[in-house]
Amino acid sequence: MKTVLKKTLTIRADLGDIGANMNTMNELKQAAGIRAANMIQDGMTVGLGTGSTATYMVDHLAKRIREEGIKVKAVSTSWSTTLQCRKCGIPLMEMGEVSHLDIVIDGADEIDPSRNLIKGRGAAHLLEKIVASMADTYIIIADSSKKVNQLGEKFAVPLEILPNAIALVSARVKALGATVTVRMGAPGKDGPVISDSGNLIADANFGLIKDPAKLARDLEHIPGLVGHGLFIGMADKVILASENGLEEF
Ligand code: 5RP
Repeated sequence: MKTVLKKTLTIRADLGDIGANMNTMNELKQAAGIRAANMIQDGMTVGLGTGSTATYMVDHLAKRIREEGIKVKAVSTSWSTTLQCRKCGIPLMEMGEVSHLDIVIDGADEIDPSRNLIKGRGAAHLLEKIVASMADTYIIIADSSKKVNQLGEKFAVPLEILPNAIALVSARVKALGATVTVRMGAPGKDGPVISDSGNLIADANFGLIKDPAKLARDLEHIPGLVGHGLFIGMADKVILASENGLEEF
């Protein structure tokens, strides 16, 4: 199902069921989510991302299942998406039983012109990367504020770290030139943020990242660092919503 996804095209938004007034961030996220959910075909296996933009995509997929009767089987990337799927009737498979998916759709925190990404503000980047790696077609949906010239412009790189390795990983990542902050205080929770896999989350601020592929490789050599939020060369297509419409590249 990897078809025409590499070419660059700009499309005026077909606003469909959200109306013509795309003037809030949520409407932009919704427009991107709807566009991506409309790319899912009857019979597909689908990976569903995490975050506010992915939520709109999941909602629209559920609507298509209800109204068009399409049949899909999905894998979720987080407890929050799992709960949403259960509520809106999207059938789920166990991630651990799946190695291939037709399409995976997810949000991102930063997107560079080569479709390299920073992900993980929602602390789901480890499972999101596993699911993205199963995809024939990996689609990123976002509002245009997520577009950057160079990764690291706005966000640090999220890390997922085995708790027993926190000191080692922090020291090794600092040696690569970052400041490292263990993520604390998710809304409604005291103490450190714990991932769905029971690990600590930290943010590594490298400033502007000159060579994201090399940094990704360097991070992957650190024992106990089980996941990082650099997604290099993975996305097949980005759908970006701005007040001018939807841009796809
Ligand atoms: C979660 C992620 C999200 O996809 C990313 O943070 C984007 O979220 P949002 O759509 O809410 O801006 O990587 O780990």
